[in-house]
Formats: sequence, C-alpha cells, structure tokens
Amino acid sequence: MKTKKFNRREFISFLGKAGLGTAILPPFLTHCGNISTPSESFQKVGSDDLQKLRDLILEGIEASDKDDLLLANGLNYHTILKWGDQISEKDTFGFNNDFTSFLPLDPANPKDGLLWVNHEYIHPLFVSGFDHFKNDDPATQKTWEQVDKEMYNVGGSIVRIKEEDGKWKVVQGDPHNRRITGQTPIPLNWDSPIKGKSTVMGTNSNCSGGITPWNTFLTCEENYDSYFGETVYDENNDPTHIPSKHGWESFYNNPPEHYGWVVEVDPKDGSAQKHIALGRMAHECCTIYELEDKHVVAYTGDDINDQHLYKFISSQPGSLKEGTLYVADTINGQWLSLDWEGQPILKEKFKDQTEVLVRVREAAKMLGATELNRPEDIEIDPITGHVLVALTNNKPKNDYHGSILKIEETDGKFDSLTFKASTFLAGGEESGFSCPDNLAFDFSGNLWFTSDMSGSAMNKETGPYMAFKNNSLFVVPRIGKDAGKVFRVVSAPRDAELTGPWFSPDGKTLFLSVQHPGEQTRDLANPTSKWPFDEDNIPKPAVVAIQGDLIEKMHKLREIEIES
Ligand code: FEO
Ligand code: CA
Ligand code: CA
Repeated sequence: MKTKKFNRREFISFLGKAGLGTAILPPFLTHCGNISTPSESFQKVGSDDLQKLRDLILEGIEASDKDDLLLANGLNYHTILKWGDQISEKDTFGFNNDFTSFLPLDPANPKDGLLWVNHEYIHPLFVSGFDHFKNDDPATQKTWEQVDKEMYNVGGSIVRIKEEDGKWKVVQGDPHNRRITGQTPIPLNWDSPIKGKSTVMGTNSNCSGGITPWNTFLTCEENYDSYFGETVYDENNDPTHIPSKHGWESFYNNPPEHYGWVVEVDPKDGSAQKHIALGRMAHECCTIYELEDKHVVAYTGDDINDQHLYKFISSQPGSLKEGTLYVADTINGQWLSLDWEGQPILKEKFKDQTEVLVRVREAAKMLGATELNRPEDIEIDPITGHVLVALTNNKPKNDYHGSILKIEETDGKFDSLTFKASTFLAGGEESGFSCPDNLAFDFSGNLWFTSDMSGSAMNKETGPYMAFKNNSLFVVPRIGKDAGKVFRVVSAPRDAELTGPWFSPDGKTLFLSVQHPGEQTRDLANPTSKWPFDEDNIPKPAVVAIQGDLIEKMHKLREIEIES
C-alpha cells in the first residue's frame, strides 16, 4: 500500500512529542482485521474536500445513564447475534460476548467471512438459574445440569456472517458455525504434560484476544480462578487450593493449572491448542507483531492489580510454541527474561521452565518486574509502531480512572530488549473517560477505545464514577483540528460494558460486543436492563455492527496528503 504522510504539526500535537518517524504500517498489521487492508472502496478525497475533512466537526455524545445503546450522529447499529441465538443445528451463541475478530473467507471479498466471538463469563441467575445471591455454596448447592449449562455458555463461537444490503447476517447452516465451550477437549502445545494431562477440558474466562499472521484466532483465559480456583504456595513452597467462586471444580476435578493460557483456534475446523510458552496468568489479550524473518513477537498483560506486562519472542517462524518470555520493568525500560536456564534465581526456586511458566507471576516478581495498574488490552499504533497498553485502574493505589501506557521499543525494533515507557492518555474528568480497556486503531490511525467501570461502581452518587455515567466507546482523532481529543461516540445500556471493537476488512463496520447488560439484576422479573428489548424481556449480551458516515469520514482522514 501507499504510505501516507501527515502534517507534521498535527502529528506532533497528537503524539505530544518532537520525534516524528515515518509511517511504518507493519506488514502483518496491515492485513489483520484491526488495521485491515485499507480499502479502495472508500472514495478518494479530492482537494476540494480536503479542507472539509480537516474541519470535520466531530460531535460526541454526553454521558448517559439511559438503558439503551446510544450513538453519536452519523452512526447506526444493527444486532448480529445475541445470547441464545441458534448458530447451527446443535449449537447456540454463548453468554457475555467479549473479543470479536473477523477473517474474510476470500481476501477479495470483505463482506463474507468468519466471526470469532469470546464468551467470557456467566451470570448464574441468567444462564443456569442458580441464584448466587441467595445461595453462597455453589459446590454443594448447584446441580450437574446447572454446571453443564454454565460450562456450555463460556468459550467462543465461530460464525460465518455476510453483509447483504448493508446488514450483517449469520449464514445459517454453514459448516464453519460451531462452539468451543468449557468442555471442549483442547491439547496443550507443550512437550510435557501439565498436572498429568496433555489434553485438558475446555476453555473459560475468554476475555480479549488477537489474531495471528497465519489466520487463526487467539482467545485469552483471564479470570480462570472463578471456575477452578487457584493454587497458592506458602514460604515452604507447599501448595494450597483456593476454591473458585462458581464451584465447577467440585463437579469436574480439573486443576487450576489447566487454565490461564493463550488459546489458539483454527477457524477452518475449530481445532484449538493452549500455548504454554506465553505463561499462565489472567491474560487479557495477545497482540502479535510479525518480524521480517516471520518470527513473531506477542504482547500480553495480566489484568490484576499490581501484575505485569509480558512479551514473547518466538524462536521459530509462524509458531507460538517455542521462544522466550519476557516481563516488563517499565522503570528501567527493560524486558527481563523468564528463561529458567539463564536466570539462577529462577533455577533456585523452580524445578524447570514448565514450572516457571505455570507460576509465572511469582517468577516475574522475583526478577523485579514493575507492578502495573491492571494491564488490559494492547494495540500497536500502525503509524508510529508504539505499543499502547490500557491500564484500567488500581483502586487500592488510588488510581480510579486508569491511563493508557505507551511503550516505545528501542529503535522501533519489536524484538528489542529495551524500551521507553510513558503515559499516553490519563483518565479522569478532565479527559472525559475513566477505566480504559479495549483498544482498536482504524486505517487512519484514529484510536477507538472502550471503558470498563465496574457495574457495581457505575452511576453511584458516592464514589468517583458518577460523572461518567454508563460505560462507553470513545474515539481519539489522529489529525485535524480535534487531534488528540477524546470523544464519546457510543453509550452502553445499563450495567453493560462495550468490548471487542474490531473493524471489518473494508473498514466500514465496527463490530462491537455489548457485554453484561443488566448485570446488577437480582430478580429476573425485575431486571436492571432490558436491552436489546426482545420478546423475552430480559437483558441479553449481543454483538452489534456499527456503521455510518462518521466511521467513513474518520477513515478518509488518511487520504490527507501533506506538504510538510
Ligand atoms: Fe475481562 Fe480484563 O477484562
Ligand atoms: Ca477486558
Ligand atoms: Ca476489563
């Protein structure tokens, strides 16, 4: 593709720094969905229109506590899939959709392909009818049937969708349509078994994810301790099992060590594998950069207060099986190797590399990794190559509104072992957003991001979140008169969070998950949200397609050629 130049002054005002690199547009990013191949389907901008674009008035929306999906002028939406929809003869769409990703079946046709959707977690009252507000011991009070229903509703969905007459629809009966669930057998991509198994039961807690250059999906197991608990070690290195919130381990005796991994799914046949080499943690996402030699660099964050940011560099091309995992020391700008062989301190404590990876949080702390405020989604800026990391919040440390961290790898080399870290954007009433989570860049390098204030804290008179009202989607224009400002463009229904923003390959549709509407519901007859307002009168998580003039105008900004 043609590399565009931007106005130096506009660029610098956005970046807030003096250095201006050449637009880098890494080859893999330009063909993956998040920074999809810029399409020729957008009309080229003539010089008459150029000034209009520069003067584009972007009107955001006010914060709202309304129970609806509200959009800025110039945007519209339709629902593609909601919880319980039939996706094949035997399968239904799971609960609490999060990460979405789209791969066209034929790269020449951006309007027909496979949508991957994560199903992160369950609300027992809705999913299995187990009333967790009245019953506090799921291990003894749940039934097998309830647990099986809950396990069915997590994991992910693969669904073929097509855009016809401007609307995305499920291709019913397509052989690709299938579910991966909490019970699907999944092999470990590792040479030794973990807790006696080389194939484990299912995947859960599938939060955000990523995509590989070889056209597979990555789905990340985040809060796995909610389902099978966690193993903790005392000072004598003796393990204790901490029970889970949902009690599944009392029905299926799976060890926690089978979860907390990055899982790769081949959309063609639904086959999956868990990647041990990327470590075990509350993985939010996995964002990949392909090096010239086809080795890959994978960034991932551990979304817990005071946990860490990691980077994996593969030792083989086109594979996530072997390589070195590093953890970030953001104070000194160093990637610290978690290699057992090369780190005597790790050799003293752990018996081998497998144990380091299974207990990677402990290993990271021993090496002096920097504690971060909940590292969540990660995206690579397609223009500068900077790595942006959402740091959602850290309430015990009085960080209520979070920020976005910027990592600049030394000399722009993604396999560098040193970097510079700084704050890119900070949340708060001044900037108009709180608790940044999922990030996505469009073709013009505009940054879109969602917020994740917790349902129990939103819209409370007392507390720091009242002014922000419902969770939302924001955009930060890259160039033009509003460059660097934050605009709220979509407001979520009550209690919901917007997740999984992903652009279609022609850039004209933004796929977006509406997750956990009505999450504060305690009585099914009186839900706190009824979105998407279907005949069942209860809230349902759903994936929507957002389209409209505003997205197209934002994309056209990339056509601005500069006479610097
Ligand atoms: Fe599932 Fe960190 O969000
Ligand atoms: Ca998230
Ligand atoms: Ca989150």
